[in-house]
Amino acid sequence: MAEPVIIDCDPGHDDALALLLAAGDQRLRLLGVTTVAGNQTLEKTTRNALRILALAGVPDVPVAAGCARPLVGELTVAEDIHGASGLDGPDLDGPVGEAAGVHAAELMRRLIAGAGGPVTLIATGPLTNVALLLRAHPEVVPRVRRVVFMGGSTERGNTTPYGEFNIVTDPEAADIVLRSGLPVTMIGLNVTHQALATEEVIAGFLAMGTRLGVICAELMTFFASAYRRVFGFEHPPVHDPIAVAAVLDPSIVRTVAAPVAVELAGAYTRGATVVDLHRRTGRTPNAEVAVGLDVAAFWRLLMDAVGRLDQAP
Ligand code: BDR
Ligand code: CA
Repeated sequence: MAEPVIIDCDPGHDDALALLLAAGDQRLRLLGVTTVAGNQTLEKTTRNALRILALAGVPDVPVAAGCARPLVGELTVAEDIHGASGLDGPDLDGPVGEAAGVHAAELMRRLIAGAGGPVTLIATGPLTNVALLLRAHPEVVPRVRRVVFMGGSTERGNTTPYGEFNIVTDPEAADIVLRSGLPVTMIGLNVTHQALATEEVIAGFLAMGTRLGVICAELMTFFASAYRRVFGFEHPPVHDPIAVAAVLDPSIVRTVAAPVAVELAGAYTRGATVVDLHRRTGRTPNAEVAVGLDVAAFWRLLMDAVGRLDQAP
């Protein structure tokens, strides 16, 4: 039986691949997609999600826009990485569908309440919408099987020396999710930096011979140039689809239970995830933390899913 999931995201090049992986693998039932401000403004991340779902051939998956800014403070978008549109690279112009006329937290509530069984939430952007759902609709929390989020790191950050973008963007939201008592899995930079979109990956997308394959190749080519310019990386890490892969096939990611806290007050470290891997604090683990990735299996999963989606040249 396919696992029912909702993806909360801020597309974003790697969010786009996360959506394609979820849409292209029959082991998941994509109940809905909710959007949050992060990589770009809410208006842009919502349009991008609608575009990607249309390209994937699943335009009927409901989409709802959520929070336009973090719970506390102002939004800083990642235009240096994802461009002015949030999905720079390919020409994605063309008609898009419309988002549902309800807030993301309300769409999540409805989908969870109506699912007839527990639902997994996969978050690939700042955790603002997820935190809001947990606080505003506690009645559906028991029906959430678990939250799997891309964010944080057991090591260093990418937005500040110790802070990763999704957590730095909304530390309070991440704190709410990590303290919720729900089963939580954290997919941090320490594993996502192993999944690199190399020239072979880009060639693999092109070899599909489909419009979607070309679009993925163009997305990754832009992403590569941004990572080269900003971080000096030879190849860009494709973070977000690993959170989807971890739900699809848990053997792809190795996790350990650990206490995870979010630094909310540090002068230099606000938004850092403080992961007690060696269990020195005596605190009770509140998350399964990814520490290993089967890189080859991950790419197989992703390429197979994208290859299945669009057969049109
Ligand atoms: C995360 O930040 C965003 O730019 C990516 O989409 C990913 O979710 C990586 O730090
Ligand atoms: Ca993202």
